[in-house]
Amino acid sequence: MISKFVETFPPAKLNLYLELLGKRADNYHDLETLMIAIDRCDRMRVSRTDHSEIRLDCRWAPSTTAWSNLVWDCSPANLALPAPQHNLVYRAVQKFRDKYQVGGGFHIDLEKRIPAGAGMGGASSNAASALLCAAAITGIPNDDPGLYDLATELGSDVPFFLGRLVPGKLVPTTAAWPAGMAIATGRGEFLETIPGAPEAQFVVVFPPQPLSTAAVFQNCAIASSPRSLADIRAAVGIWNLPKLAHAVFNRLAEPARCLSPWIDRTLTALEQTGLTGVTMTGSGSACFGLASSARTARQAVAKLAGRRCGICFSAGATSLPANIRFLT
Ligand code: C5P
Repeated sequence: MISKFVETFPPAKLNLYLELLGKRADNYHDLETLMIAIDRCDRMRVSRTDHSEIRLDCRWAPSTTAWSNLVWDCSPANLALPAPQHNLVYRAVQKFRDKYQVGGGFHIDLEKRIPAGAGMGGASSNAASALLCAAAITGIPNDDPGLYDLATELGSDVPFFLGRLVPGKLVPTTAAWPAGMAIATGRGEFLETIPGAPEAQFVVVFPPQPLSTAAVFQNCAIASSPRSLADIRAAVGIWNLPKLAHAVFNRLAEPARCLSPWIDRTLTALEQTGLTGVTMTGSGSACFGLASSARTARQAVAKLAGRRCGICFSAGATSLPANIRFLT
């Protein structure tokens, strides 16, 4: 078989807003969240093989040692990657093969730059990219509704990274998104696109203790009067920093705080650099603040780097879906 070989750079996300509306019978939570894709990306290469197996090679980039050095007391366990069969990427390709009755094997090579256990959607983004790469290689259109169904089975955040709106799922179009920003409802699978924010700049800190999404949700509480999306929706529409700083919110910060002392330390470190709109992303443990420009963001990262509070980086907005390039 002639191997078709594709490359993509799955992006991370930040939740600018996350409110819980209620606990469901299936143990998930109904929520309202506003997510934006950012240009901190992994690298994924996918090819088809003559064998029947799915092979996944996954490693930290540039190296595990470099990651350990960045977070001074990072336990090696924090950098352990799941066995290939337990990786969401592996399961995505397995499900894709079953659904579309595709023969032969796949080889996936994955370089991780997005922290894990950070609330930045790395595993979900990888899974969505694996579906899109497998579709590209086998000639399945990337707006095939079956991909969306697989994405929802794989995880609540996976549909967001497909970057496609599917008929019957709130928004009646399959058009590519103008940018990687959306409001997600349900357990995260119903998506509404929001016009782009190319000027968005963030400073992100990943503290030395990752958090488990399931553990954070287990410890959460539903507010008696949940907040309304109205303020954040208005603020992102015009990308007004003072309004945004006022509207950013994450209901999961409270349970995360109870699980890790690093949440408060990280939020404080970000606030002390003068950033506004400081909050946690997703189920943590990464936190972020808004910056007025790429230069301000870089200056804040330089200040934070001296404080030994974890891995710090700046990021801008990016579009979805991640571009897929054919290498052969
Ligand atoms: O969907 P995903 O597999 O990413 O979710 C991981 C865990 O997070 C779930 O098992 C569930 O405990 C929790 N979760 C939730 N409500 C959501 C999304 C996730 O309770 N909307």
